[in-house]
Amino acid sequence: MTGSKKPVTTLELVAMKQRGEKIAVLTAYDYLMAGLVDASGVDCVLVGDSLGQVVAGESSTLPVTLDQMIYHARAVGRALQHALLVVDMPFLTYQVSTEEAIRNCGRVLQETAAQGVKLEGGHEAIAGTIARLVESGIPVMGHLGLTPQSVHKLGGYRLVGRADFERDRLLTDAKRLVDAGCFSIVLEMVPSGLAGELSRNIPIPTIGIGAGAECDGQVLVLPDMLGLNEAFSPGFLKKFAELAPDVRRAVSDYVREVREGRYPGPEHSYE
Ligand code: KIV
Repeated sequence: MTGSKKPVTTLELVAMKQRGEKIAVLTAYDYLMAGLVDASGVDCVLVGDSLGQVVAGESSTLPVTLDQMIYHARAVGRALQHALLVVDMPFLTYQVSTEEAIRNCGRVLQETAAQGVKLEGGHEAIAGTIARLVESGIPVMGHLGLTPQSVHKLGGYRLVGRADFERDRLLTDAKRLVDAGCFSIVLEMVPSGLAGELSRNIPIPTIGIGAGAECDGQVLVLPDMLGLNEAFSPGFLKKFAELAPDVRRAVSDYVREVREGRYPGPEHSYE
């Protein structure tokens, strides 16, 4: 992949769906990894609030703050030349009132290179807030299905949409998000038939995670797909690399060489 490709915009993601081109999205949280991901050709980089778990070791995304998201988004944004940058809005930064949502999402656009924000949920109040955000010039990616900020309400990290009432709600919520002006919707842990039906019936791209092959695009959490998070192996996850054993081997080689006085050698020393 070259750095000469045109930067991706929110409109381009919609155009990719219209052309039948699949969209590749990954999360990133820091400058170095974001640069590697961008240079490898992803269309969109998400600074996910999954950083609560994979960077900070929390058990959920709930403790993540807006300042933390902005810190990581600034680092990621400095590395991107091609991919669209979308930033997750953390818990309670957009649910309390539309005014707070506009201020907080506006901060993300002002203080980072983000071209869009992602908000979870599709009920009427959220859709109303999203419509105001979009009117204010803030592009919004929706997120339906398993919405991790509602983990306690959902009763755990689980598939959403098998029961008739969940299926109906998902279809209604997706329609609301389209009407509110979202440029895309993440579908997390949704049965693949339902995700496919939904994807065929809305004009904006669906980005699936645990939602099957019929979504318009896919997203994975970077440390998970690189095999750095050994304890996490849900059925939907393909580990495209197994880096954890390599990291352990490199670090234990380093420790041994330091202890044995073999590192640094003459080639690593200055006269
Ligand atoms: O926080 C995150 O990384 C996400 C993706 C899993 C879609 O929301």
